[in-house]
Amino acid sequence: MKWRLAVLGGDGVGPEVMEASLDVLRATAECFGHELTTDVQEVGYAAYERSGNPLPEETLSACRSADAVLLGAVGDPRSEEVPVELRPEAGLLALRKEMGCYANLRPVRLLPALASASPLRPEIVDGTDLVIVRELAGGLYYSEPRGPLDDGRAAVDTMKYHQDEVARIARVAFETARGRKKSVLSVDKANVLHSSRLWRRVVDEIAEEYPDVECDHMLVDRAAMELVLNPSSFDVMLTPNLFGDVLSDEAAAVVGSIGLLASASIGSSPGGIFEPVHGSAPDISGTGTANPLAMILSAALLLRHVYSLDTEPAAIESAVARVLEEGLRTNDLARDGEGSVGTAEMGAAVAAAIANVGVSADA
Ligand code: IPM
Ligand code: MG
Repeated sequence: MKWRLAVLGGDGVGPEVMEASLDVLRATAECFGHELTTDVQEVGYAAYERSGNPLPEETLSACRSADAVLLGAVGDPRSEEVPVELRPEAGLLALRKEMGCYANLRPVRLLPALASASPLRPEIVDGTDLVIVRELAGGLYYSEPRGPLDDGRAAVDTMKYHQDEVARIARVAFETARGRKKSVLSVDKANVLHSSRLWRRVVDEIAEEYPDVECDHMLVDRAAMELVLNPSSFDVMLTPNLFGDVLSDEAAAVVGSIGLLASASIGSSPGGIFEPVHGSAPDISGTGTANPLAMILSAALLLRHVYSLDTEPAAIESAVARVLEEGLRTNDLARDGEGSVGTAEMGAAVAAAIANVGVSADA
C-alpha cells in the first residue's frame, strides 16, 4: 500500500514528536511492506511568521491532496501580539473546518505498565477504557455571533447547535459504541442550556436507530466528577465541542499523562487529521524531552481509520506497550527515582520494537 501523508509538525514540541512518529511509521512501513511518502508543511505560528497566515494555502492544498494529515501541535506564547484571527489556534480550527472534520475521537485507555503513573488509586483506575467522541465543527468554538462588543468592554461567544450537527456526531458515537461495549453516555448541561436540551432530544432520537446500544445522559459537571471517581464505568462519551475539550484533558490525566492521548479528527470525506490531544508545550519545547507517544499513537489511529488496517496499528500499539513494560519513561511519566529518556530515544525504541512485534504478528 502507498501511504501519502501531509505532515504538519506545527509549533513548540509538535515538530519534535512528529519526527519520532515518522520514525515509527517508517519502521512500520518497512516491516509490513508499505510505502510512506510525506508532504511536510507548516501550520500555526511557524507558518504565520513566514507567510502571515497560520494556515497557508499551500498547506491546505497539501492536506487536501494527501490521504490524511498528521498534525503535531499549534500554539506559541509570542502569538499573543497577533490578531486573534491569525493566531495558531485559528489556523487549526480553520483546518478542521476546511477538512470537514466534525468528529474527534479520543481513546483513553489505562496501559497496565502505567498504572502507577495515574494520580488515582489502582483500584479506581484499573480497567479504564473509554472513547470521547467530541463534536468538532460547531458549538462554542464556531457559532456566531462571536467577538468583542462595546469597544472591547464586553465580548460574546455563542453555543449554537443545529439538530443535523447533533445527529451526525451522535451517529459517530453510536457506531463507535457498536465496535465496543455498546454504551453511549451523552454529556450536556441540559438543566441550564437550550442548546443542550436540543442536544439531548436529538441524541435520544438517534438512539432509536441503535436499539442494540445503551444510551444515557449526564450533566457535564457530574461527568467531570465521575471521570475521577469511576473512570472505568465509561465506554463512549459523546460531548459537544467545548465539553469534550475539557473532559479529554481530565481523562488524559486519569490514565497517566496528557502525553499519551491520541486523537482522530474525521468527517464526511475520507482521510482526516490525526493529532495528539496535548498542545505545543512551549515550556519544554526545544529540550527534546516531550513524550512522543500521543503522536505515535495518533499515527496508529491514522492507519486504522484511513487505510482500514489492523495488524499495522496493532503492532504500533503493542510496541508502545512493550517499551513501557520494559521501563522506558519520558519525563512526564517518570515517578520518583525512575530515570527518563528523551523524545527521540522513545521514538527510536518504539520503532525498534515494531520489527519484533511485527515478526511475532506474522508468525
Ligand atoms: C485540543 C486543543 C485545541 C482545541 C486548541 C489548540 C485550539 O486544546 O485539540 O484539545 O481546543 O480544540
Ligand atoms: Mg484541548
